[in-house]
Amino acid sequence: MVKLIIDNREVEAREGSTILEAAQKAGIKIPTLCYHQALTPYGACRVCTVEIIRKGWSRLSTACTYPVQEGIEVKTKSEKVKKARKIILEMLLARCPNVKKIKDLAEEMGIKKPRFELDNEECILCGLCVQVCEEIIGVSAIGFVNRGAEREVNTPYEINSDVCLGCGACAVVCPTGAIKIEDIKEIRKIPLWHTELKRRKCRICGEFFAPEVEIDFLKKKETRLGEEIFKTCPKCRKKELGNKFVMRHA
Ligand code: SF4
Ligand code: FES
Repeated sequence: MVKLIIDNREVEAREGSTILEAAQKAGIKIPTLCYHQALTPYGACRVCTVEIIRKGWSRLSTACTYPVQEGIEVKTKSEKVKKARKIILEMLLARCPNVKKIKDLAEEMGIKKPRFELDNEECILCGLCVQVCEEIIGVSAIGFVNRGAEREVNTPYEINSDVCLGCGACAVVCPTGAIKIEDIKEIRKIPLWHTELKRRKCRICGEFFAPEVEIDFLKKKETRLGEEIFKTCPKCRKKELGNKFVMRHA
């Protein structure tokens, strides 16, 4: 275990854990936006900025990426932190003035209107969607494209992606709600990824549920589960089989 000081409190943390994890365990709140516990922290939004004092030197860093170290002191609410976080949130709010989570975080910092020119984006380019698609689903249907102001997340082709499974994991982890899923009868659409897929009909209730391509993908991975489970929607599956076979996505 590693001993460190967070906001004047001595805290013990597991070696290899981050300042954010240590603070959360100790009940000390550090705001986050692009952090997701299932994914490798990338430090994109910088909302979790804290002040770290080590051997008399003070620096600002993101708590979600900084590993705990013996004897360091962390300040989560110092004037230096507040000033930095305020500018970060002001810039995020100027980029995404209609994203509720960003508006709430900005309001907590006392920001009503950013001083910068307003844009109308919903994506903060945090990359969580790219990461979940690659690290957890194992598909890599989306990625960063272009540079500078043109940088965005997209599929390799602008017309109907043939790689995206339509599983929706990207929408689950997206911190801003930028990724919308539209389920209309037998069709699932994810407009941001140019995805339009046919959904499977449940053999019991007749409702459409997950995309055919996603189910076929899972079927190849989970060969021991038998045919029927892949023709059954999650609700009926639960009724028929209990929690035993509730699959991760479909
Ligand atoms: S779409 Fe969402 S998850 Fe993907 S980069 Fe943008 S904000 Fe992050
Ligand atoms: S939450 Fe740490 S950089 Fe976004």
